[in-house]
Amino acid sequence: EKGTYPHYMLKEIDEQPLVTRRIIDKYRNDADEITVDSEIVAAVNAADRIYIVAAGTSYHAGLIGKQFIENWAKIPVEVHIASEFSYNMPLLSPNPLFIFISQSGETADSRAVLVQIKELGHKALTITNVQGSTLSREADYTMLLHAGPEIAVASTKAYTAQLAVLSILAAVAAEGKGRSLEFDLTKELGIVANAMEVLCDQKEEMEEIAKEYFATTRNAFFIGRSVDYYVGLEGALKLKEISYIQAEGFAGGELKHGTIALIENGTPIIALSTQEHVNLSIRGNVKEVVARGANPCIISMKGLEEEDDRFILPSVHEQLSPLVAVVPLQLISYYAALHRDCDVDKPRNLAKSVTVE
Ligand code: F6R
Repeated sequence: EKGTYPHYMLKEIDEQPLVTRRIIDKYRNDADEITVDSEIVAAVNAADRIYIVAAGTSYHAGLIGKQFIENWAKIPVEVHIASEFSYNMPLLSPNPLFIFISQSGETADSRAVLVQIKELGHKALTITNVQGSTLSREADYTMLLHAGPEIAVASTKAYTAQLAVLSILAAVAAEGKGRSLEFDLTKELGIVANAMEVLCDQKEEMEEIAKEYFATTRNAFFIGRSVDYYVGLEGALKLKEISYIQAEGFAGGELKHGTIALIENGTPIIALSTQEHVNLSIRGNVKEVVARGANPCIISMKGLEEEDDRFILPSVHEQLSPLVAVVPLQLISYYAALHRDCDVDKPRNLAKSVTVE
């Protein structure tokens, strides 16, 4: 039930700190170490390459999961859009492991790939919010998101739960390979949960930003580099699906290769900067669009902030920044939709689970 909340989406955004803490608890043993079913760890470590398959928001989570697994466990990962996989099947490595990421566990496009790769005799792990869902039943292994039911069509808490679970899987896989992380993931995820809470308490600020940038605009761009680019893709998807504003997520350096032609006076550009190694270059990209009249909204992480930044994110471990950076984007989309009189929880043309291919 949504209780005193006007919309499920807002409730589910607010649940993210709690869900993050619940995930830490569910994937922790008595000795307070993070732990994942040993069969899953063995399957991940036996793989010479991981193929993540997903759709929509879950695909965006997969892009970040790839970074966790490659950076920490050093296993190569490819991320594929489910509906494209069958038509353009990649050349598979000798010992692949498939990871299906699906909030509902019912997405037909993802299931079609699961059926196909099972026929080829490959192993699959499903990361899902729904125990007993089709993708969970038909895969060899399941990791649950423990996010509680997600009712709003726009996925929010499932996305951050997917990131948290993927980070846990990557950390445990890294350990299995004899590479322990340079930081304590449990502790850092706890800091993430606290930061999410701080952000959820800043709704007025998000509403202001939504009014200032999105009250009447026709289009918008989200730019970032590295994982900020992937978070921008998710921010753009949220804005599109509930406010019907045409929004695109772009890699900061790619705009100038064509899309910059769309920048007009006042075009909103949400720029994310949470990564020190790309901070200067994304700020360079912002200057390029500002010179063409764009209206910039820079969201940066504490420690990287500059004077004109519109919003500063509380500091968390750099590699976990997507879990935090997405929260203001979810809230801004929510308020943009609200102010444009859109049906936040049930946007037009969309269903919560897409059971047709
Ligand atoms: C976006 C959204 C969709 C889903 C996609 C996959 O907010 O909800 O893009 O993420 O349809 O759904 P699942 O994760 O259930 O496979």
